[in-house]
Amino acid sequence: DGDPRIQYISDSIRTIPDFPHKGIMFRDVTTLLLDHKAFKDTIDIFVERYRDQKVDVIVGIEARGFIFGPPIALAIGAKFVPMRKPRKLPGPVIREEYSLEYGTDCIEMHVGAIEKNERVVIVDDLIATGGTLGAAIKLLDKVEAEIVECACLVELVDLKGREKLSGKPLYILVEYE
Ligand code: PRP
Ligand code: ADE
Repeated sequence: DGDPRIQYISDSIRTIPDFPHKGIMFRDVTTLLLDHKAFKDTIDIFVERYRDQKVDVIVGIEARGFIFGPPIALAIGAKFVPMRKPRKLPGPVIREEYSLEYGTDCIEMHVGAIEKNERVVIVDDLIATGGTLGAAIKLLDKVEAEIVECACLVELVDLKGREKLSGKPLYILVEYE
């Protein structure tokens, strides 16, 4: 869209070729965090979008959803719920497996963290194949949460991750091939 903040944010994300494997263009948001304006503008854009949407919960996905989710939650008056890699959360959990390029991974959420019909925005830094966000959506469906939207800074559009989101909306700031 015509928001001049978007170009500034985009310019603050570093690309590292061949990390962690040859042929991968790694989109590194840690450089965005070094720039106060870029970080603040990023949070502000999400806050402006969700502040009047009666959002009860921001879900953040380990690890980079833990950077961007909490400041949004604080600003809009929502609670923050972490979804973590296996065996990190100490209480009773529900879990969902998902496929990676090779093999599977899994995310977990504490039982009781989110109640039926609570309105949730899921935050992560980036959507690639959509496996991670797809699994997050399945976990939230299990607890009968209402998913308002998935929100990421970056979409790798060629990987068609959007198609794994069970029709849930996805809002992004910056796209790459
Ligand atoms: C990255 C990224 C997303 C996920 C996207 O996390 O932060 O969470 O991959 O990929 P997908 O759309 O193909 O599922 P990663 O798995 O590298 O974990 P980390 O943030 O804990 O390093
Ligand atoms: N996670 C999956 N693919 C990625 C990429 N190209 N850059 C950063 N994080 C990623």
